[in-house]
Amino acid sequence: MKTIATASGKVILFGEHAVVYGRPAIAIPVTGIKAVAVVEESAGEIFIRAPDIGKEFYFKEAPPEDPLRLLVELTLRHLGWENARGFTITIRSEIPIARGFGSGAAVSTAIVRALCAYFGQEMAPEEISAIVYEVEKIYHGTPSGIDNTVIAYEMPVFFIKGQKPLPFKAGCPLTIIIGDTGVASPTRDVVLWVRGQWERNKARYERLFDQIGEVALAGKEAAERGDLRKVGELMDENHNLLRELGVSSPELDRLVEIARKAGALGAKLSGAGWGGNMIALVEEEAIPRVYQALKEAGAVMLFTSRISG
Ligand code: PMV
Repeated sequence: MKTIATASGKVILFGEHAVVYGRPAIAIPVTGIKAVAVVEESAGEIFIRAPDIGKEFYFKEAPPEDPLRLLVELTLRHLGWENARGFTITIRSEIPIARGFGSGAAVSTAIVRALCAYFGQEMAPEEISAIVYEVEKIYHGTPSGIDNTVIAYEMPVFFIKGQKPLPFKAGCPLTIIIGDTGVASPTRDVVLWVRGQWERNKARYERLFDQIGEVALAGKEAAERGDLRKVGELMDENHNLLRELGVSSPELDRLVEIARKAGALGAKLSGAGWGGNMIALVEEEAIPRVYQALKEAGAVMLFTSRISG
């Protein structure tokens, strides 16, 4: 008996950080990069293997706060198989870690899906998302829930913390190029730093979060109208607000600027910042130019991702 399941990466189109403070955001799955989980029968206790991060251990021997242990425990409890044993979970992921691709949420989602298949049960996306969210709290401290939501639902979402996500549907296809600075930046550190700044200067940070929220809302409306130029402008505006927030970096600013100069309609950092990814909105004919410019500028990984209209 052996089951396999996958989950995609994601990027945030609008609204990161402000989303932690209740403002709206838009996130889209990146289906070209995947985490894969395999569950197969084996003798004895539950064994977990994550060769990409050099981890392997018996489930029972991990400390209770270990994210993989918590995930498996919560999933088995939800499925009514809390006493199950006799299987091994192997996790592989091609999603770069700490770059804003939601690698943690993708690995967790793949595991929950593979366990569901192994026990012949189904779970709705909101149930998977709720379990993954518990584990995200270990990885990220105070996550908004956007990563687990977009990845578990595997659809573009308009997201407000604590509310049921709305499907986000653009009025025409959106093509984005994702460029990785190659700088690893754990979300937890950046989110914690922003919280410190917000505590010291609430008026300023609340104002910035409001502005980002307005940009996200305007971005949703422009995308729904199919107004790509406006979406691009709003991405630029979002990037400037993220700079003011203090979460950009010289590498991100440079790639964003290069993408714009090469003909992108707009560009911004995506995810927590200080490193990780930037995204650029491009029209079909500009793809090769922007792609090449980012490559020459040293982007370590480049993906093109399309959201259908
Ligand atoms: O996982 P990342 O790096 O894409 O960050 C998620 C987005 C944040 O808004 C920075 C954090 C959150 O929980 O929403």
